[in-house]
Amino acid sequence: MRLAVLSDIHGNSPALEAVLEDVARVGVDGIVVLGDHVSGPVDPAGVAATLMGLDAVFIRGNHDRWTVDLGLPGSGAVDRFARGQLSAEQLDWLAALPATAQWGDEVFLCHGTPTDDETPWLDSFFKGRTATLPDEASVAALVEGLDFPVYACGHTHMPRSVRLADGRLVFNPGAVGMQLVRGSPDARYGLLEKHSRGWQSRVNILPYDHEGAAVMAAENGFPQWRASLVSGWAGPESLR
Ligand SMILES: [Fe+2]
Repeated sequence: MRLAVLSDIHGNSPALEAVLEDVARVGVDGIVVLGDHVSGPVDPAGVAATLMGLDAVFIRGNHDRWTVDLGLPGSGAVDRFARGQLSAEQLDWLAALPATAQWGDEVFLCHGTPTDDETPWLDSFFKGRTATLPDEASVAALVEGLDFPVYACGHTHMPRSVRLADGRLVFNPGAVGMQLVRGSPDARYGLLEKHSRGWQSRVNILPYDHEGAAVMAAENGFPQWRASLVSGWAGPESLR
């Protein structure tokens, strides 16, 4: 059994296209998409159109909430831009997404943590370019009350796979469409596979037309996204 795990597309249709081509090449039994789908300066409506035609399980991220309701604290310029690009039907689709979901009986899906789409699970957020990592007890505490062998999360854009002491897996595939501080513009997505020894994870990292995406972002009035889209060295402060 093989599952493609996509998260944090952020309206980047060239990156999404490259990832879906790779998913088709690899072959999967299912696709899950963990939120922050459209908020970004490249092509929000194109991403929404692609996702709405995709046979997948979707949940919403914090930026999806902020795109649907621009009055929420946290909502910013890219959310406003994305909302302005979407059709009424696309906005309705976005507004109806659940906060969490599951794939079959085995994979729990959330954006940040099981209870909050703004809280990072496997990585803390940055102060400048510095990030700290949580300890084991903090990571394990967030699966309390849930009984799944695998938990897939996004939000931090940092790929990471954690095996809890009881064998359960917490997996963040990184971001499809917006790379931060890692020095690579390549798109990321995850594959979860169930084998006789249990669930294994990997992150696929692939090139796409990131120059084209940066040009689209600049044409849409967001030249400051170039550093993230072209080099992947940008810190989160450059993306507002
Ligand atoms: Fe995100």
